[in-house]
Amino acid sequence: MTPVLIDTDPGIDDALALLLAWSSPEIRVEAITTVAGNVRVEAAGTNVVRLLALRRPTPRPLVAAGAAGPLARALTTATRYHGEDGLGDLADWPVVEPVPTSPDAASVIVDAARRHGRELTLVALGPLTNVALALKQDAAVVGRVGRVVVMGGAVDVPGNVTPAAEFNMHVDPEAAHRVLAAGLPLELVPLDATRQAVLPRAGMRAALGRSPGPLASRIQAFSERGFRIAHAEGEQGMALHDPLAVAVTLDPSLAKWETVRLAVGPDGETLRASGAPNCRVAKAVDADRFIRLFLDRLCPTSRPGASS
Ligand code: BDR
Ligand code: CA
Repeated sequence: MTPVLIDTDPGIDDALALLLAWSSPEIRVEAITTVAGNVRVEAAGTNVVRLLALRRPTPRPLVAAGAAGPLARALTTATRYHGEDGLGDLADWPVVEPVPTSPDAASVIVDAARRHGRELTLVALGPLTNVALALKQDAAVVGRVGRVVVMGGAVDVPGNVTPAAEFNMHVDPEAAHRVLAAGLPLELVPLDATRQAVLPRAGMRAALGRSPGPLASRIQAFSERGFRIAHAEGEQGMALHDPLAVAVTLDPSLAKWETVRLAVGPDGETLRASGAPNCRVAKAVDADRFIRLFLDRLCPTSRPGASS
C-alpha cells in the first residue's frame, strides 16, 4: 500500500475524490491537508471532518489545516459551483469539531516527505499554496517524494475561470509557478483530461441505488448541486476533476501522458514553454474504465456498514 497525502479544498469533486481514495486498497491515506480554494480554509476543514465522520476510513488520517489564502493575492472561491459551504449547502450535516491549527499543513507535508521519501505520493486537489509553502520550508526533503499528482491547468483546451486558466492554477499562480520550478516528479491532471471524465447523473443514481444507506444518500444529496449546474451549462454530467487525479494515482494507465515543459502565466494559464520538461500531463483518458472504477469503489455492493 502506497502512503498518500492528499491536499484538498472540498468541494463536491474533492469530496468524491476523498471517498474514492478511502475505498482504494492500493493506497493508505496517511494525512489530509486543507487549503483555501473552492471555499475558505475553515469550511474546507469542516468538510473533511464531515466526510471522515460519514465514511469512517481506517486508519483515520491525520487532518491538518493549511493556508487561508494564496501566496500573493486575494482568495477567489468557487462557492457559486460548490455551494456556500462547499458541499451543496445541505441543511442537516451533524456538527463537527474544527480542524486544529497545529500542526500546519506545510509542516505535515514536509514531515510525511521526510518519513516516507520516495514511497510517498502527494496528491494536490486544490490551489498549490500548501505545497509551495512546504517547498519553502524544506525543498530538499519535499523533493525526495516519489510522485506529485496535481489536478490543475488547461494545456491545450480553454480554461474554466478565464478563457485560458483553470481554477486551481488561477487561484494561486505564484504557488503553481514555484511547484513547477521545483524539479518535482510532477504529474499534472488538467482540464484536457478531466473534461473527458464525465459522470452522467443516471449512472451515479443507479450505482448509489445498488448500495443504499446513509452513505449513499448523503453522496447523492451533496453531488446533486454539481449535476444541476453541469446540466444547466449544457454538459452531459459532472466532470470528475479531482477523482480522476486520485484514479491516476492508483492506475496511471487510465491516461495517456505527454512529457512537457509548462510555464504559468499571470492569471494561472498553463503555457507550453521551450526547454527541459518539468512535468508529465494527462491527455487522453480511458473514460469508461475510469467511470467503472470510480462507481465500483464508491458504491460497492457489499461494504460492511453500507446500509446500516
Ligand atoms: C478544480 O477546481 C475546483 O473547483 C475543483 O474542485 C477542481 O479541483 C477544477 O478546475
Ligand atoms: Ca479541488
